[in-house]
Amino acid sequence: MSPAVSPALVSRVREEAEAFFRGARGSHDWDHTGRVLMLCLRIGRKEKADLGVLRLAALLHDIGREKEDRSRGRLCHARSGAVMARKILERHGCDPGTIRAVAEAIRTHRFRKGGTPKTLEARILFDADKLDSIGAVGIGRAFLFAGEVGARLHDKTIDVRKTKPYTREDTAYREYLVKLGRVRDRITTHEGRRIAAERHRFMAAFFDRLNRETDGVL
Ligand SMILES: [Fe+2]
Ligand SMILES: [Fe+2]
Repeated sequence: MSPAVSPALVSRVREEAEAFFRGARGSHDWDHTGRVLMLCLRIGRKEKADLGVLRLAALLHDIGREKEDRSRGRLCHARSGAVMARKILERHGCDPGTIRAVAEAIRTHRFRKGGTPKTLEARILFDADKLDSIGAVGIGRAFLFAGEVGARLHDKTIDVRKTKPYTREDTAYREYLVKLGRVRDRITTHEGRRIAAERHRFMAAFFDRLNRETDGVL
């Protein structure tokens, strides 16, 4: 861990970050942050990154999500999360270099909006966050989300251009076709790509099987 980031600081930040997730939906809750943290450390060790920066960035990366949900998507949670994280870390007396590195990683962790992640720690946070949306965890989260918006279980023949998110047609399979199936192409680190390839294989096999089971041929 970077000498500037003590275990005491990490545990205070963890406590504060968790409070932002009270009442969060299962598909985007505090457990996601825990999984992202573990992936960040796993990839960070392989890529020889600053684990202190990664710990703080992972714990704080989605604290802006509630704000984004309340603004109905008008506010970007990566941008607002970076500003919020900066204030929290300043209040805890964190050094300016670490604060800058953490805020930069949070600002660029999002799939679409925000800048592209440039520093090693920002790229690792980006990868860890995306890896949590594919594989077995990704499948589980996609169905959980579909349940949250009242979607159907499955429609093999879905036309993604003629259907909309947040509707009954917003199935896990739609999410796979629109987004999850492409995640592996966006991963930026060597270790991240290795994990993504494995997770993608499992996910593709799952949806292939789902198509065959719902056809009654398996
Ligand atoms: Fe996020
Ligand atoms: Fe996230």
